[in-house]
Amino acid sequence: MTFDRSIKIAPSILSADFADFGREIRAIEDQGADWVHVDVMDGHFVPNLTFGPMAVKAFRPHVKTVMDVHLMIAPVDPYIDAYADAGADVLTAHVEAGPHIHRTLQAIRAAGMKAGVALNPGTPAQAVAHLLDLADLVCVMTVNPGFGGQKFIDMTAKVRELCAMIGDRPVHIEIDGGMDPVTAPLMVAAGADVLVAGSAVFKGGSVDQPQVYGANMSAIRAAVS
Ligand code: DX5
Ligand code: ZN
Repeated sequence: MTFDRSIKIAPSILSADFADFGREIRAIEDQGADWVHVDVMDGHFVPNLTFGPMAVKAFRPHVKTVMDVHLMIAPVDPYIDAYADAGADVLTAHVEAGPHIHRTLQAIRAAGMKAGVALNPGTPAQAVAHLLDLADLVCVMTVNPGFGGQKFIDMTAKVRELCAMIGDRPVHIEIDGGMDPVTAPLMVAAGADVLVAGSAVFKGGSVDQPQVYGANMSAIRAAVS
């Protein structure tokens, strides 16, 4: 995985057909997805449950781009090796998931993955100030995590602040929640380069009508270019 700040669209398979992940992943990649975003929820850190490392491992052979795994779980550390074994390229943990996020990021890198740190809407940018040399990605949540299809919460000021804090470090700024052709340009203007989008990519399409996914991604790309 090489680093660059080009705009990347990362469809969240939280909005895909849960009985057909393999074909859904292939459909979004065929239609131009840059990364594939995989939302892991534990029913404890967030009030919803999705899937665990065995399912993520089963997704791996279908993902030809970058498998971007977003852990909305606590604790994180006991599962890091399982997600490395599952083939995650990027593994993101929440700064709110426990007191030892610094150790968690070290452990994610030691397990051979890129390390991401996510911030809930209520958490200030300063929470990652001492983590930026340990992180490959900062994920700014623009919804409270747990569900797709929620209303965008404007985090422009936080993204600008993070962008200045990151400076010339090779750290991606990813935005997660409520991304669409109206909200994505605000975040890109503030300094984001990875745009996670669930409902805005999958809406109206299916594996039998994948061109809708392509059109939805093109609309976001056109809006930010
Ligand atoms: C929310 C997840 C998001 C979600 C985004 O907890 O982390 O990745 O799927 O969904 P949309 O784009 O529908 O807001
Ligand atoms: Zn996510």
